[in-house]
Amino acid sequence: MTENTADININWFPGHMTKTKRQIEKILPIIDAVAEIVDARVPISSRNPDLPDMIKGKPLIILLNKCDMADPKETDKWIKYYKEQGVFAIPVDCKTGNGIGNFKNTVKTALADRLQQYKDKGMAGKPLRVMVVGIPNVGKSTFINKVAGSNRVKAENRPGVTRGNQWVTIDRQLELLDTPGVLWPKFEDPAVGLRLAFTGAIKDTVVDTELLAVRLAERLKADYPELLTNRYNLVNLDGDGYDTLCAIGKKRGMVIRGGETDTERASVMLLEEFRNCKIGRISLERVENNA
Ligand code: G4P
Repeated sequence: MTENTADININWFPGHMTKTKRQIEKILPIIDAVAEIVDARVPISSRNPDLPDMIKGKPLIILLNKCDMADPKETDKWIKYYKEQGVFAIPVDCKTGNGIGNFKNTVKTALADRLQQYKDKGMAGKPLRVMVVGIPNVGKSTFINKVAGSNRVKAENRPGVTRGNQWVTIDRQLELLDTPGVLWPKFEDPAVGLRLAFTGAIKDTVVDTELLAVRLAERLKADYPELLTNRYNLVNLDGDGYDTLCAIGKKRGMVIRGGETDTERASVMLLEEFRNCKIGRISLERVENNA
């Protein structure tokens, strides 16, 4: 399903894009691969549209993070899709660490040629350098902390490494570089903004909460009706998104004078429950509609 994006106006300042682009271009010669962290629930909207151009053919590994909150069926389809495209992709849950164990091996597979080159040149011990990128809130810091674990050593200001870049030594074979600067999504597309607002990647202060909740109700009604009826004990999902929001609020006793639903409270509750995965594991982008 595609959302109705009429009336959605997200004023989101994405950060210093040009600066980030330059910083990435500068660092490119000394990295071997790029790991892009995306949100498994919105794997397209949480990507940076300019990244493929920026990394100029460096091997790319996509980490579908927060897969604990995404629909496992859809995550499997995304992994298969990327594989068919020749892109390395793995599902991860950086909060618990599930799937993180596959990361190092995936890096080695993606960089098999580079490892062979090092070996041929008698540099077999040279560590692989991977730049980790991701839009804000996607879980980049959680990922780096999880991979590094107790081995985390901050190694800055070494020869060949620009001052101020955050290098993290994972072990003798692998070093990660936290992206310099802020990476941005395709924010000019209102559907992207809307989906990122659903997940909470874009803060509620820049969107109309009630309109957002109505759009989310529409989306869930269309794609996950059973999860919605089960969670809120609804008999049916008659009417539009607003009607559904009202029915949900009523079920939770959020009623104001005259017996009407307090839609403001209901909106906050619905969004919070979605973001905390209380409604169920939900993916808002599917291969067949979005790839
Ligand atoms: P960033 O560096 O990319 O900006 O993101 P960060 O690691 O700060 O993560 C943003 C939020 O996403 C954090 O939640 C983090 O715990 C959560 N998160 C990261 N990876 C996963 C995952 O795989 N699964 C789930 N369920 N959550 C994940 P927070 O609410 O901002 O903080 P906190 O509740 O962890 O303290």
